[in-house]
Amino acid sequence: MLKVEDLKKYFTLSNGLQIRAVDGVSFHVRENEILGIVGESGCGKSTLGRLILRLIEPDAGQVYFGGEEITCLSRNALRPKRRKMQMVFQNPFSSFNPKIRIGGALMEVCRYYGMSVPESREKIELLLRDIGLSSDLLNRWSRELSGGQLQRLAIARAIIADPSLLIADEPLSALDVSVQAQLLNLLDELRGSRSMSMIFISHDMTVVEYFCDRVAVMYLGRIMELVSAAELSRNALHPYTRSLRASAPRLDVFKDSIGKEKTAPIKGETPNPQVLITKGCPFAPRCQQAQPLCIEALPQLREVSHGHWVRCHRS
Ligand SMILES: Nc1ncnc2c1ncn2[C@@H]1O[C@H](COP(=O)(O)OP(=O)(O)OP(=O)(O)O)[C@@H](O)[C@H]1O
Ligand SMILES: [Mg+2]
Repeated sequence: MLKVEDLKKYFTLSNGLQIRAVDGVSFHVRENEILGIVGESGCGKSTLGRLILRLIEPDAGQVYFGGEEITCLSRNALRPKRRKMQMVFQNPFSSFNPKIRIGGALMEVCRYYGMSVPESREKIELLLRDIGLSSDLLNRWSRELSGGQLQRLAIARAIIADPSLLIADEPLSALDVSVQAQLLNLLDELRGSRSMSMIFISHDMTVVEYFCDRVAVMYLGRIMELVSAAELSRNALHPYTRSLRASAPRLDVFKDSIGKEKTAPIKGETPNPQVLITKGCPFAPRCQQAQPLCIEALPQLREVSHGHWVRCHRS
């Protein structure tokens, strides 16, 4: 239902330096599937989400939605597609206008998509029930709500128009663990009841592995590994993926590694995207298994077994 081909976005900073935020990313998302995008801060996850919706324009590459290329559509032609592709933004505190009450903000979205006032009211009431919030909240300002309530409302606002694709950018950040679990359950229920596909962006390997069907691991604007979540937990192959898993705080990773080759948690500084790596594997400077070839030549993303893609000379 969504296909992304060789998508690129380079930013040029005021000091003239270039950042390759997204550097040739390709993948697809199937109907009713949850694809996780995981990686450290600054690896290009949010930029990728925005590019797919054309909230920012790509420098190169194509996005196909429902079989149609949307990267070449005019703003007007894009509008009906936008309704079907929605995004929950990274920071719930800044994603609501502080000058409009919550009810007004939701009504505004309904109006934008051409719903009548009675239809909008009914829709909002049903949605609030679905996401487990009381309609009293509609009269409040965003500053009067908790992070968890705001995040639920951000999800409600994104699904008002019945999208077939939801891009959720770090929807659990800044929430405590019990609220995180509630929100994951909510997203899963919504996916089932509305048959939505989802791109779930997160820096948390544990959550992504638990929640998603397939996972793309990103490093400095590139996909390093793309694999089903089940295979990821059994047989992660890229040294970066393995380090991320080993850094994730949970028991079974340590149990897994008993008697097997032990993967060290990730070390070294998060990469500075301003330092352009023009040749070789971008992860090589931090990779404990790097060989001379890794410094010399960029590995391609290769299918090493059915549906398991890895960008590593050693795989
Ligand atoms: N508008 C912009 N102008 C210049 N650089 C940008 C812009 N937006 C993003 N970047 C840079 O592009 C890179 C990728 O940013 P992005 O926000 O996509 O990362 P991210 O993976 O979402 O990180 P986080 O986990 O911290 O949210 C970063 O180095 C960031 O500084
Ligand atoms: Mg981000």
